[in-house]
Amino acid sequence: MSDGTPGPQASAAAALAFVEDGQTLGLGTGRAAAAFVRALGARVADGLRVRGVPTSNATAELARELAIPLITLADAERLDITFDGADEVDPSLDVIKGYGGALVREKIVAASSERLVILIGSEKLVPKLGARGKLPVEVVPFGESLARRCLRDLGCEPALRLADDGQPYLTDNGNHILDCAVSAIEQPAQLDRDILAIPGVLGTGLFVAMAKAVIVQNGEQVEVLQR
Ligand code: A5P
Repeated sequence: MSDGTPGPQASAAAALAFVEDGQTLGLGTGRAAAAFVRALGARVADGLRVRGVPTSNATAELARELAIPLITLADAERLDITFDGADEVDPSLDVIKGYGGALVREKIVAASSERLVILIGSEKLVPKLGARGKLPVEVVPFGESLARRCLRDLGCEPALRLADDGQPYLTDNGNHILDCAVSAIEQPAQLDRDILAIPGVLGTGLFVAMAKAVIVQNGEQVEVLQR
């Protein structure tokens, strides 16, 4: 049931202004990204020709229901724009993602794109990344104990993400997520490099210098921030 807070439809509608006929689009994961995929599906039903590369099985399923043509990254080579949500955005438009668990595919698809456009509610704007206290890190289960030790050495206290059934949460890649307790991150690019250097770590939720535009929804108002 709705709590009266507007959904992300206004930011999704604003995002459609970036889309041109014939483009290949990365399709993000999460609530805001799903709103965009639904809005895109309506345009496709009206004749817009685009192809999408989904960042998760859930997004692929939604896109198929909406008859949005899907291709793989190998087919696409280069994408025009990826549209995705985020969990935190700082004033430089650096981003934390991954509360929804799709961070590795999201980063691969974003890095394959000319532009990454992020859709958020204004509550996700933070003065410094880390403000919400969590940085997701995807790890190969075999390397989890080493990753935990190394993350602690970096000042990030890891907690294994659990699914609703109490078992370790599994990403679409079959890996685990360590949700690291963090405070304000002073040097996001350096922390990203340090964490990625841990054997068995596949990706972090830090998306540094990747977003070209952030569409911020506040109530029904929408503002576009550009890098
Ligand atoms: C998925 O892994 C995440 O990166 C999401 O894109 C992010 O958590 C934002 O999701 P919401 O739009 O649902 O808040």
